[in-house]
Amino acid sequence: MSGMTPSAASLYDRVQRVIPAIEWPVFSDDIDAILRLKRERNAVILAHNYQTPEIFHCVADIVGDSLALARKAMEVEADVIVLAGVHFMAETAKLLNPSKTVLIPDMGAGCSLADSITPEDIRLLRQRYPGVPVVTYVNTSAAVKAESDICCTSGNAKAVVESLGVPRVLMLPDEYLAQNIAAQTDVEIIAWKGHCEVHERFTPEDIREMRAAHPGVTVLAHPECPPEVVAEADFAGSTAAMSDYVGREKPARVVLVTECSMSDNVAVDHPDVEFIRPCNLCPHMKLITLGNIRSALERNQHAVTIDPAVAERARLAVERMLAV
Ligand code: 13P
Ligand code: SF4
Repeated sequence: MSGMTPSAASLYDRVQRVIPAIEWPVFSDDIDAILRLKRERNAVILAHNYQTPEIFHCVADIVGDSLALARKAMEVEADVIVLAGVHFMAETAKLLNPSKTVLIPDMGAGCSLADSITPEDIRLLRQRYPGVPVVTYVNTSAAVKAESDICCTSGNAKAVVESLGVPRVLMLPDEYLAQNIAAQTDVEIIAWKGHCEVHERFTPEDIREMRAAHPGVTVLAHPECPPEVVAEADFAGSTAAMSDYVGREKPARVVLVTECSMSDNVAVDHPDVEFIRPCNLCPHMKLITLGNIRSALERNQHAVTIDPAVAERARLAVERMLAV
């Protein structure tokens, strides 16, 4: 958003296909307040692709997948960053732009992947696999990143693994992402047993049923889905890659095998594409609302802090990833 700040009333046109008119009055007061508070506090809002459309399209300044949000967080010049997403994303923004105040509207917005592994687990793995580099998905705590050699996202995992020039890596904690990347590279990948609670629920039968019910549908899946699901899809990629695919290929009918808000957010810009909507909700992403974004800006809550000793080592792992 640039130039004159829009008002909620002028924003409705953009989202009218995904937000029913009857729901709009519930949002408009918070949207106007957030637009005003952003100016007053010199704040920007970074929103992940899984945020609901009234956040994604009406108050966010920067949107994208985990990789884009990390890159763009580094360049923010405003005083305050509000991260409309989950805790590891806010930590990553703080790591990359430590002088800024980084706020997460609900401290409980976690992630089943981040919860699946501890720093101690990584120390034990290093004893078991001496000399094998540790590639850690960004969906982890800063303390886990600090024990890692390099981070990756679903958007760059293959490039990161291959950049190390070694025959074998540990890739943690998402077992399915690790297996999906292993299928694309000669590097041997040792995985962990973490899963995304949203993507692990999709099954190959779901995809076959969607194809039977909606002939000709193009199926795009996130690589956090089990490999048997990815095998049934036409394309697998990060949330940004799925969104780019729709823009580039303009399929007549598409299903995004991922979190529910993705389809709403992408549909706004593609009125000619029919979106088939089976999806799963991420309960963590859905903890972020216009109401708590407004409170975050009004009350300066909840500021993300990272132990400086942890931050220094975690930042190195993220910066190595961004250099690939
Ligand atoms: P990406 O946006 O990086 O594809 O990640 C998806 C995800 O699950 C983030 O929580
Ligand atoms: Fe974590 Fe999955 Fe939710 Fe993303 S969608 S925040 S990986 S639980």
